Amino acid sequence: MTTKPTLRPFRWGVATSAYQIEGATSADGRTPSIWDAFARRPGAIGDGSTADLACDHYRRMPDDVALIASLGADTYRFSVAWPRVQPHGRGPVNPAGIGFYDRLVDELLARGIEPWVTLYHWDLPQELEDAGGWPHRDTAHRFADYAAMVFAALADRVDVWTTINEPWCVATYGYADGIHAPGRTDFPAAMAAAHHLLLGHGLAVTAMRAAATRPHEFGITLNLGGVRSEPGDAAAAEAARRADGLNNRFYLDALRHGRYPADVLADLADRGVTLPVVDGDLEIVATPIDVLGVNYYFDTTLDADGEIRRGPLTGLGWPITADGLTDLLTRLAREYPGLPLVVTENGSAFDDEPDAAGFVDDTGRTAFLDAHVAAVDSAVEQGADVRGYFVWSLLDNFEWGHGYGPRFGIVRVDYATQQRIPKASARRYQQIISSHRQVA
Ligand code: NOJ
Repeated sequence: MTTKPTLRPFRWGVATSAYQIEGATSADGRTPSIWDAFARRPGAIGDGSTADLACDHYRRMPDDVALIASLGADTYRFSVAWPRVQPHGRGPVNPAGIGFYDRLVDELLARGIEPWVTLYHWDLPQELEDAGGWPHRDTAHRFADYAAMVFAALADRVDVWTTINEPWCVATYGYADGIHAPGRTDFPAAMAAAHHLLLGHGLAVTAMRAAATRPHEFGITLNLGGVRSEPGDAAAAEAARRADGLNNRFYLDALRHGRYPADVLADLADRGVTLPVVDGDLEIVATPIDVLGVNYYFDTTLDADGEIRRGPLTGLGWPITADGLTDLLTRLAREYPGLPLVVTENGSAFDDEPDAAGFVDDTGRTAFLDAHVAAVDSAVEQGADVRGYFVWSLLDNFEWGHGYGPRFGIVRVDYATQQRIPKASARRYQQIISSHRQVA
């Protein structure tokens, strides 16, 4: 007899990250992160903005928690800002900084919402970048110390801990492409960063598990997506193998099997790149985890000239490929079995048009949500062990290199007044949650 996973226990959540919503970038002893520095470089951010105010969440936190409760979500995925908690990237905890997250956790629990903590969502203390950043091995150790510090403060109330959000983006956009902080363009350094991010993850899980006095769930969140090629196109198939290797298998194989894929290492060697792996590193990277966070936006199709973008697209020009989420989740279940999966981010930016009252009837985002929840349901029906779905994002927010143009929120933020106005997609999400709870 086989036991089929059901939707229960299944978490329904909303997600944000510290730098994208908090603002208050110099309050209560916080020091600059790499994003504060990057956003001040002329031309770095599409609309020339910074996240100095963002959604002013640092001051409006209790109201935002009430908003989450009103959606019926049971889980809130947020990140902790390292430069608030440990302003120099090393040394003692900043009581005012950790105090904010302490209050946030209490506020969530008081409303019956489970806190899901991400320890690193891209805001490295600038002082650590000045000391070499993620390409420098010591940053992995600094991260593990910081993780243990946050764990000591919140583990009595927080059960689930994600170490790092999207290491591929941190390494590639930040250190190879230069389109994210810290804005470097050095491919070998980016690959060193990728290894040290994974090492930092493993060191952090090890440190937190050693300090735990009760069971917790530890994991990492990866941005994953299938890479397809046009049938019969050998060059595109080869490009797809390489892209799948660097974006997906590099992280998954290291985390699950304790080795980097041989074909990826060979491709890197062809480009003159050797990873700075020290004996014993990969055992640390492959420290068992309890959950894999999956951030899914789209899958990619390649032809001989590169990425094909056709068919329906979001406002950011990203393909809408809901089936790819089913394919991804069932692939993970098949190729990396035994690991519970949670969709820690999924969502879309569209050109919202508010009415006079600020209400947005966002049919595009609502349809996107429907299609992707159906894709998760379908993966569960096919046997994938998926334990949750979190919308990106609760609020419109600072979309990194783009600034405030792209709006991913199911709740509109009027940046002039900081008013929060739930969109049609927020109502739809509320219905999705309650109807799934009824059948579960
Ligand atoms: C993934 C990132 O984790 C998040 O910060 C970002 O806003 C979304 N993708 C949308 O680009």
